[in-house]
Amino acid sequence: MRVLGIETSCDETGVAVYDTEQGLLSHALYSQVKLHADYGGVVPELASRDHIRKLVPLVQKALMESNSTQADIDGVAYTRGPGLVGALLVGSSFARSLAYGWKVPMVGVHHMEGHLLAPMLDEPAPEFPFVALLVSGGHSMLVRVDGIGEYQTLGETLDDAAGEGFDKTAKLLGLDYPGGPVLAKMADDGTAGRFTFPRPMTDRPGLDFSFSGLKTFAANTIKDIQKQGELSPQDKADVALAFQTAVVQTLAIKCKRALTETGLKRLVIAGGVGANKSLRESLQTMMKKLGGQVYYPRLEFCTDNGAMIAYAGAKRLEAGQLGDMSEQVSPRWSLDNLPALNHSETT
Ligand code: KG4
Ligand code: ZN
Repeated sequence: MRVLGIETSCDETGVAVYDTEQGLLSHALYSQVKLHADYGGVVPELASRDHIRKLVPLVQKALMESNSTQADIDGVAYTRGPGLVGALLVGSSFARSLAYGWKVPMVGVHHMEGHLLAPMLDEPAPEFPFVALLVSGGHSMLVRVDGIGEYQTLGETLDDAAGEGFDKTAKLLGLDYPGGPVLAKMADDGTAGRFTFPRPMTDRPGLDFSFSGLKTFAANTIKDIQKQGELSPQDKADVALAFQTAVVQTLAIKCKRALTETGLKRLVIAGGVGANKSLRESLQTMMKKLGGQVYYPRLEFCTDNGAMIAYAGAKRLEAGQLGDMSEQVSPRWSLDNLPALNHSETT
C-alpha cells in the first residue's frame, strides 16, 4: 500500500510518500521559520496562508521523487491534530479533497503519534513496548507505548514545553525565533559550572515536568550580569550552557524514573528537542549504564515532517482504520484514547 502523507499542524509544510512494502520513497519539506522570525513566534494566519501556497508544489515534488503518479497512491494521511486550527484545516481540506478526487481512502493522524513513531522509519526500529520522551515546541511528555495506538501518558509538562523553554530563553539572550537550535550551538562555547540552574520537579516523585521556572531563572541570571555591564558573547554562552544542562539533566532523571517504574529497557526520543546533541549524548550514556537501548529518529525527522504522518497513516489504513470525510480537525487531542491498531475498524 502506498500512502501520501501531509503535515501542516504548525509552521512546516511536510509531504511524503510511504510504501508499506518498500518503505519511505520520498519526502519534501518547507519550513516557514523565516516568515515568522520577524514576529518572534508563529503567526497562525500567516502559517495557514503559506501552507496553501506550498502544498501543491510539495505534493508534486514528493510524487515525482517517489516515481509515483496519482494512480499509484492507495491512500492519503494528514495531520488532524493537535496544532493550530487554521493550519490543520488547510491540510485536512486539501487531503480530503485529494482522497475524494482520487477515489482512495484517507485517515487523520495524531501529530504526536507521528513523532513517536518516527524512529520506525529507520533501522534498527524499536520493538514494542518502549517508553517515549516527546519533547517539542508544544509538548513535553513521557509515554508508555505498547503498540501503535496503545499509549499511556506517564507524565507531561505543567507549563512550558521543553522546546518553548529553549525558545523563550533564547529570546532573552537576543536570539531570533526559534532560538532553540541556536542556543544549543551557543552552549558549545559555555563554561561549565559558572552558573547552576535548578532541576525542576526532580526532588519529588512523579513524572511531570515544569520548565517555566528555568526561563525565569535565566532572566534573573541575565539581569544580575547586566548590573556589571553589557552581556558578552561568553556570558551568553555560559547562560545557554547552564540552561541546556538543566533541561537535559531534568529530562534524563525523568526518563530513568519512567524506565524504572515501567520496568522497560527501550527509550525513544522524539520531537524537535530530540535533535539536541547534548540530550542525545546524555541519554545514550545513561541507557548504556542501565543496559538498555535508546532510539532516535534521524535528525530531519525529529522536527515536524510529512514522513512520520505518511508512516502512521499507512499503518492505520493498512489495518482498515479509514477516516470519515466528515471528520473535523482536533486542535486539542489527547494521545491516550486513540484506537489500537489490532482493534481494526472500518467506517
Ligand atoms: O517538533 P517540532 O518541530 O515542532 C513542534 O511540534 O513543536 O519542535 C520544534 C521545537 C522548537 O521549540 C525548537 O527550538 C526545538 O524544537 N529545537 C531544539 C533543537 N532543535 C529544535 N531545541 C534544542 N536543541 C535543538 N538542537
Ligand atoms: Zn511536532
